[in-house]
Parts: sequence; structure tokens; C-alpha cells
Amino acid sequence: MRAFHISVSDDVLSTAVTNVTPIATDPSDVLVRVEFSGVNYKDAMVVDPRLRVRRSPQLVGGVDAAGEIVESSDPALPVGAQVAVHGGDLGVARDGGFAEYVYAPSRYVSRLPEALSARAAMIVGTAGLSAMRSVLALEDHGLSNGEVLVTGATGGVGSMAVALLAARGYRVAASTGSSGAIGWLEGLGASRVIGREEIADKPDRVLASERWAGAVDCVGGDTLAQILRSLRYGAAVAASGLVAGADLVTTVYPFITRAVALLGVDVVEMDAPARARTWQAVADLTSRLDFDSLVDREVPLEGVAEALEVIRRGATRGRILVRPTPGG
Ligand SMILES: NC(=O)c1ccc[n+]([C@@H]2O[C@H](COP(=O)([O-])OP(=O)(O)OC[C@H]3O[C@@H](n4cnc5c(N)ncnc54)[C@H](OP(=O)(O)O)[C@@H]3O)[C@@H](O)[C@H]2O)c1
Repeated sequence: MRAFHISVSDDVLSTAVTNVTPIATDPSDVLVRVEFSGVNYKDAMVVDPRLRVRRSPQLVGGVDAAGEIVESSDPALPVGAQVAVHGGDLGVARDGGFAEYVYAPSRYVSRLPEALSARAAMIVGTAGLSAMRSVLALEDHGLSNGEVLVTGATGGVGSMAVALLAARGYRVAASTGSSGAIGWLEGLGASRVIGREEIADKPDRVLASERWAGAVDCVGGDTLAQILRSLRYGAAVAASGLVAGADLVTTVYPFITRAVALLGVDVVEMDAPARARTWQAVADLTSRLDFDSLVDREVPLEGVAEALEVIRRGATRGRILVRPTPGG
């Protein structure tokens, strides 16, 4: 099969679209014919030699994929079922979804609700699942009326978060460093678009004004610290990412005087009930989501290398889809 292959030799990383034999690492692995995959920020981290994200010197990239099961011994995952594959070591330490076929352990294979095609599932992808999981975490915490902040709004997680929150009826403030994307973000449902720098408020005080009823943050670093300072009393921020940095320098004041909460979001190792709940929550919104408006571009395997570079530069507007078999 054709695949986007990553290899490291003598400390030099190279990528190529080449022929690879799909290999099951366990007899119970499920084989999926990939209809679509998506390019995620983590995929760009996997091909960055300075980072320690990749854990194999040779592998097929791609942390998620969607398509049809062609081989399975799991009665809950029959041949012919439409599924999404994501999580675990996929595309990090074992062959991933930038390929015509992918083997995955059944715990990382989710049956898609009827309302979601393989293409829609990959428009959502790991990034969109993270956004939906963030929204569910905020609601479980008791998200109330008021403005919800979304950071990194033009990216995969951010754009889906804007669209999902708006579809669920929330007022969304979208924060972005891309001034040219204001109209697009409003089209996704943002009621207001603000610049990245506007998140920092009253820098000379320990606490900023109480602004946000909740926040979805995939940026991390100082952005997350600023959000914590400006959450309303009892509100929460769901944190899933680190594009601006992994360090979090803050004080305990937002926690002990405003009872705010920092909710961690992970979709890589979440269990089967959480996966099913998250996919279903997205499927329930399909009639209110314009999936195509969330697509930055669609590329063949030959376009993956450039797409990774675009993601690395933070220059996406929504999701980049990969179609391993053009027309397939
Ligand atoms: N926890 C999980 O399970 C999980 C799942 C999926 C993703 N993630 C993480 O979530 C993060 C975002 O992923 P993604 O796929 O949405 O990435 P992405 O498509 O590259 O989007 C990130 C966005 O962040 C903004 N940004 C980039 N550099 C920035 C900087 N230095 N300072 C402030 N903002 C910056 C940009 O948006 P603007 O130009 O609009 O500001 C960019 O489009 C990554 O860290 C990823 O690893 C975690």
C-alpha cells in the first residue's frame, strides 16, 4: 500500500510517499481501509527532530484516520463498519493513518454514529474531538450563561470549538493572531473576534477583570495563565494544548479567591464510553454544523509534507484533510 513514511537514519529525518506493507502488531488488531485522514499539530511534532514525540525510527505518520473495517475478529467492530481510528501510539510509535490501510488495536477504533461520514469524522478528527471533549468538560463543570473564550481560534481545535459552542447556543469570543480570519470566524459562529494580545488584562494586578464564563484553550503557556486570571467566579478553562509553550506560571489566587477550575483534556487515552459520548455529541450537532467551512484544504499523500509545515507555522484555517486514495 502507499503511505507517508518517516525514517531516521544517522540522526537525519526524512519523509517519502512509498510502498509499505501493513503489519498487525497483535492478531486482534483491526484493519481499516482509510478513506480520510487529517493533519494534526501532533503530526508536525512527530517530524520535528528536536522534540521527543516520535518513538520509532521508522513509521507511517498520521495520528488519526477514518474509513471502513476490512479485517476484524472483534464482534463489536464488524467488517464493513465505518470507524474512526485515533489515540494510543498511532502515528507516534506505530504505523498511523497517512496510508491506504491502517492496523489498530480495537480500543482505539470507534464506530461512527450514522450521522457522521468518514470525511466528516476526519474534519472533526483528533483536534475536533479535543474541542468537543473540552465543551463537555465545561458543561459537566456547570458552564453558565456568558461569553466563552476560545484561543487559537483558526486552528483545528479552536475552529471546531468555536463552531461547536455556537451550535450549542453559547456566545463565543474567538481569540486569534490571524487578523485576516475575522469574517471566517464570525461565519463559524463567533459573536466577537479578539486579538491574542487582548487576553492579557490588567497586567499589574494579580487578578484581571472577571470576563469569561468558560474557556477552551489549546494554546497553553502565558495564554492559559492569563485566562485563569480572568475567569468569572466558579468558571473553568478546559486545557488541551501547548502551541505557545508547556510552562504554566500562575498564582493560586484565581483558585482560592474565585474558585476557578483548570480542567485537563485528553482524547488520546480516553476510554471507550468517553469516546462514544464525544463522537455522539458531535453527531448530534451535524444539522447545525457546516463541515465544509472547517476544511482548510484536502491533499493527497504527496501533500502531507507541505501540510505539516503549514501546521508547524500555525498558518492553517481549520482542518487539512488527507485522502490516501484519490477518488477512493
Ligand atoms: N490533549 C489532546 O488530546 C489534544 C488533542 C488535539 C490537539 N491537542 C493539542 O492542541 C494544540 C492545538 O492543536 P491544533 O491541531 O488545533 O493545532 P493548529 O491547527 O496548528 O492550531 C493552533 C492554533 O494556535 C494558534 N497559535 C499558533 N502559535 C501560537 C502562539 N505561539 N501563540 C498563541 N497562539 C498560537 C494559531 O491560531 P490563531 O492564529 O487563530 O491564534 C494556530 O492556528 C496542540 O498543542 C495539540 O498538540 C491536544
